[in-house]
Amino acid sequence: MEHNFEPLKNDLLLRAAWGQTVERPPMWVMRQAGRYLPEYHEAKGTRDFFECCRDAEVASTLTLQPVERFAGLLDAAIIFSDILVIPQAMGMQVEMVDKKGPHFPSPLQDPEDGQYGRVLAGDVDVAAELGYVYEAITLTRRKLAGRVPLIGFCGAPWTLFCYMVEGGGTKLFAQSKKWIYKYPEESKKLLAKIADVCVEHLALQVKAGAQLVMVFDSWAGELGPASFKEFSEPYLAHIAQKLPQKLQELGLDKVPMTVFPKGAWYALDSACNLGYNVVGMDWLQDPAEAVRIRGDRNIVFQGNADPGVLYGSKAAITKAVEDMVKGFWVGNKGWIANLGHGITPGVNPDNLKFFFEEIHRLTKS
Ligand code: CP3
Repeated sequence: MEHNFEPLKNDLLLRAAWGQTVERPPMWVMRQAGRYLPEYHEAKGTRDFFECCRDAEVASTLTLQPVERFAGLLDAAIIFSDILVIPQAMGMQVEMVDKKGPHFPSPLQDPEDGQYGRVLAGDVDVAAELGYVYEAITLTRRKLAGRVPLIGFCGAPWTLFCYMVEGGGTKLFAQSKKWIYKYPEESKKLLAKIADVCVEHLALQVKAGAQLVMVFDSWAGELGPASFKEFSEPYLAHIAQKLPQKLQELGLDKVPMTVFPKGAWYALDSACNLGYNVVGMDWLQDPAEAVRIRGDRNIVFQGNADPGVLYGSKAAITKAVEDMVKGFWVGNKGWIANLGHGITPGVNPDNLKFFFEEIHRLTKS
């Protein structure tokens, strides 16, 4: 290892993710560094979102904000970055429009549009294009000084493909569906290309200091079971298979891997066989039923309270935590407490604190 970071004082997340028996479930939440925090707006100022991602000092400051605010309650940091840095590295332009979300001025139209051919044939120099992510990770590890592990991540091929053809958020997924149902072979070539960039990006994040990696398939639930099997799962499996090999080539130790196929509740059983240590799930899944589907496989679950419960009363938060604990927390292993998706703007940070405190209280042995 070329880095010499301080040893971890809290490695609960890593032990749990490897499937070990632990004293209590580790906890963190997706998008924990974000717009619900007043200090986020203060530190970000008028900077553009991607400008923050590209500035290691700013990205590390934002990553640390929830760790500092929720010290003693939070068991992980997740690097402040975005899944859309991969399309950028592949040569596409992506902007973050205030209050609207991501926007690609020139999304991929069809296989004959010229851009598709260029993206597919392009030789992506991931280390050079995304060097700023690795710099931010290394600086964040230094600043964390072993307080909690640092999570690296990427978007899943299917979810990134959707953004690259839609050009932004969508309700209809008309372009994505046009591509997979009109040009399935061309779509698969692009999905495979994205998957290879994902492997490289995750490996370089580990090299820079990431201690667990997570693949966000935020749009998995837009596919039905058969299409998910065809257009998402093979590429998720490819990442899980290739990443450990790539790490070995680089002389690095394996790290736990998490997959989050949001909305694909019907695919939970096969998601447990994709080669990941941890499977994340949203609130469409009943915890006890999920545990039943898992059976005796050594897979760890992550999730899954409705983030919207944090807009509710304390009693509602307690009830949501009780449901998770009752279903997921069996035999002191197999669960990383989280929300079922990212925390949303407008949530009172004290409600998140209460959510964490309730997990502590209700899992104390
Ligand atoms: O704290 C963390 O979780 C780490 C940082 C993180 C961000 N994006 C920061 C961010 C992570 C892990 C992501 C992943 C991401 N980005 C996903 C997968 C997770 C999910 O939510 O499904 C997706 C789909 C994206 C793409 C993306 N980035 C969208 C759709 C948006 C706009 C929607 C929104 O919530 O504003 C973003 C912007 C974004 N990424 C923000 C943050 C903190 C908000 C930027 C701002 O307005 O200041």
